[in-house]
Parts: sequence; structure tokens; C-alpha cells
Amino acid sequence: MPDLDVARTADAVRVFAPAKINLSLHVTGQRADGYHLLDSLVVFVDVGDQISAARADMFSLALSGPMAAGLRDTADNLVLRAARLGGVPLALGLDKHLPVASGIGGGSTDAAAALKAAGRLGAPRPSAQEVLALGADVPVCLAGVSARMQGIGDVITAQPLPPLHMVLVNSGVPVATPDVFKGLTTKNNPPMEAGLSRWPDSLAFIDWLALQRNDLEKPACKVAPEIGATLVALSLSPDVLMVRMSGSGATCFGLYPSRLHAETAAYQIARMNPWWWVQAASTLPG
Ligand code: C5P
Repeated sequence: MPDLDVARTADAVRVFAPAKINLSLHVTGQRADGYHLLDSLVVFVDVGDQISAARADMFSLALSGPMAAGLRDTADNLVLRAARLGGVPLALGLDKHLPVASGIGGGSTDAAAALKAAGRLGAPRPSAQEVLALGADVPVCLAGVSARMQGIGDVITAQPLPPLHMVLVNSGVPVATPDVFKGLTTKNNPPMEAGLSRWPDSLAFIDWLALQRNDLEKPACKVAPEIGATLVALSLSPDVLMVRMSGSGATCFGLYPSRLHAETAAYQIARMNPWWWVQAASTLPG
């Protein structure tokens, strides 16, 4: 079966880099090297960036898109670091639509897409350690399917889930992940509750999900109090079923019964908060 997220034309490819949403994120411990042990349920949605790549004489990266201004240091961009692992020089393009440093895996999903693009253009696959060294979220982004993520992000178990429709809201404040982890008061929290299995429908799944947590939500709200305002706006939106922060923030999501409900809520939230990034989104199959 062809890879639907990879479009190929002669010696150039385009790869969609979907946003990663942590539906839950439990911090269950800390390793001696400081990295935290996680238990997180991750999905990918139909909102994201676009990576293009073509064989070239040397590595380069061109930025475009509404969120490109948030990326300053092109030379150290994860897209370039990922592509360089393959050793095949590429002219890369990053069309940036996801807010930077926002808890929905922008840099990691771009890096994963760059690895896929490089692979399509003949670069050898990097080792699991090299992939993890790019960032703790890169392995799950490379897997690209809904999954339970454990370890420090390196233990990935595919987890089929019913389709979900959501609104993503970001107030525009970038949040540095290390600052949020530093604010955790307890590091040995319980993992996700048992019951993770195949779900009869989305509502049954969301009932279960509502009992889980994002342990980073509280410390993130201290780092960026605007997160509280986005959670409130989502909670007050019509027909919302559940509200939570993704990753280390600041992006929060609300879940809705259908795409139409999500579009309606997104419209209303955006109208009341025109300076926020607000997107209706649906999970990708798989
Ligand atoms: O791996 P990544 O660069 O995405 O991680 C950014 C920072 O987030 C790390 O330097 C670390 O402070 C924190 N982190 C952590 N435990 C994880 C993942 C990230 O403490 N499992």
C-alpha cells in the first residue's frame, strides 16, 4: 500500500507532518539522567506542517508558512539535523503551520517527516538511538499512528482508537518544555488506568479518557498562566465533551461529538479571541 502522507515527483518528495496530540500524559518517574518516565496516549490529526525535499549538492532549509517567523535558528533546525543523519544532501523546505514550542510536537513531527523524506530519496534509516536523540517525541512521530508512549518516549505501542474530533487552541505564548518539567511537584504519579483496549465508540473512549490526566498541566499553567484562559474558553464552548492540555503546553484541546460540532466551537472561540491560534481537527486513521 502506498504511504498516503508521502507524495513523490521524480527526485523530490513532499511529506505531511501532522500535529501530535497527547490525549493524556502521566509522569510516572524520573531517571538518573533527569529524563522523566511517561505514560501517554498520542494521536495525530489532519492539521500540520509540510516538508519538501529534493536531492541536492549540499544540505539547505527554506522556511515558509504562517508560523515560520517563530523559527529563528535555521542552521540548528531539527529538520536539518534529522536529514543529516542519512548523509544524502537534500534541499529541504518547511512550510510551517503549527505554532512553535506549543506541546503538539511541531519540531518532532517535522523531524520525523524529514526522516521519511530522506528515506524516500535513498538515505539509510538512522538507528533508534539516533532518532530518540533528536527528541523524545520523534519516535512516536515516526511511527505516525495512535499509540501508547512509555519510557521517556522510546517505548511505543500502537493503540487503535475510535475517530476523534477536536479544537486546538494556543494563546501564542511559547513554552519551554524543561521549565515545565522542572515545576513538577510529584514525579511518581500513577500510570494510565487499566481499561485501555478496543473501544465500542468514541463516547465510551472519551468517558475513560476523562479519568486520565496530563500531569504537566499544573506546572505549565504556572509557567504560562494564559493556558488557564484557553482551558476555560474550551470548557465554555458548546457541546464540548472533555478539555485538556497537550504535551508540555501551551496548546489545549477540547473533544466534540462530531467534526461539525468542533468547527462550530472553533468558529466561536476564534471570534471571541481573534489573536489566538484556533483550529478544528480530526484524528488521522490508524
Ligand atoms: O527530548 P526533548 O528535546 O523533546 O526534550 C526536551 C526537554 O524536556 C528535555 O531536555 C527534558 O528537560 C524534558 N523531558 C523530560 N523527560 C522526557 C522528555 C523530555 O524531562 N521524557
